[in-house]
Amino acid sequence: QKTLKSAYRDFFPVGVAVAPRNLTGPEAELIIAQFSSLTPENAMKMGPIHPEPDRYAWQDPDAIIAFAQNNGMKVRGHTLCWHNQTPRWFFTDSTGRQVSREVLLGRLKRHISEVVGRYKGKIYAWDVVNEAVPDTGISIYRRSKFYEIIGEDYIEKAFEYAHAADPDAKLFYNDYNTENTAKREKIYQLVKKLKDKGVPVDGVGLQGHWSIYEPTAQELEKSISQFASLGVAVQITELDISVHPKEHVRRAKKPADTGELTAEMIAKQAAQYKMLFDVFRKYKGVVTGVTFWNVSDKSSWLDNFPVPGRKDYPLLFDENYKPKKAFEGVVNF
Ligand code: G3I
Repeated sequence: QKTLKSAYRDFFPVGVAVAPRNLTGPEAELIIAQFSSLTPENAMKMGPIHPEPDRYAWQDPDAIIAFAQNNGMKVRGHTLCWHNQTPRWFFTDSTGRQVSREVLLGRLKRHISEVVGRYKGKIYAWDVVNEAVPDTGISIYRRSKFYEIIGEDYIEKAFEYAHAADPDAKLFYNDYNTENTAKREKIYQLVKKLKDKGVPVDGVGLQGHWSIYEPTAQELEKSISQFASLGVAVQITELDISVHPKEHVRRAKKPADTGELTAEMIAKQAAQYKMLFDVFRKYKGVVTGVTFWNVSDKSSWLDNFPVPGRKDYPLLFDENYKPKKAFEGVVNF
């Protein structure tokens, strides 16, 4: 019986995003059998791990790290600096007024040093900065609070703080929509700037929230090879293949989709997964990790998102934790 981790042993670790509730019962068994790496889905984000200025919530991330260590798995850290899930206190003083550049940089430094320092040697790769590039417009910088208060150098500072706290960890810039031509170009410019300045960035994370309609093999190869040309590694950090069209595909192609799972969706999903992993293997040595975003179709962040009431089936294991048709095409090559 082939498993994801045995099939890909010579290529890259195959990971999965988890919460502590996934680490018991049948889900834990599935995780141990199939995966060689874990990413905390939420537990290491700024809000969950650092809810108040002088309080860190280590319990959930510690539990995930312990589970990984007990089962010989690697851990990817996610994420040190993101405009989402960051508590309001980060940007304001005790009177509610926005803090200065110096104060925010100091907070960012302390946060990153504490979190990366605690898990030094236990987390092999970190998503240091997440989603800093906007989907639209010509600027390569999203107008986030970090950008507005600190300026564009908050990104390089975050990488420098992380590198100082664990010089052996691989440091990633992570983003979505990386196959959109305009956004890919902006991310490329950002990472190139960082590399040219000598900032310690080791890789680009393609989140991989894709669908049965996109990307094409050409689009994916273009992304991987363009980022690789900067001399950095590429990891697929949050893979799932929605059976429903993303908004831009829905507008352009208007596929029939009542929200129900159809045989056509199942077949298209299997073909899409097979294509993706064919490409990942082709870039052996460049693609150094692939992580799925959630364990099985029983529960995905895509359930009810972006369409309330609509279920999705984006993963390789079904609602009863059994391998789907798509699984076969991924492990047999
Ligand atoms: O834990 C709280 C609970 O205490 C509270 O009562 C409840 C009420 O809303 O919320 C719970 O937190 C939710 C959390 O997931 C844990 O389930 C948050 O509301 C919800 O916003 C959060 O969603 C997460 C989302 O990031 C936040 O933007 C998803 O689980 C997570 O899968 C998703 O992951 C992101 C990556 O980090 C970055 N890339 C995109 C990806 C998908 O959006």
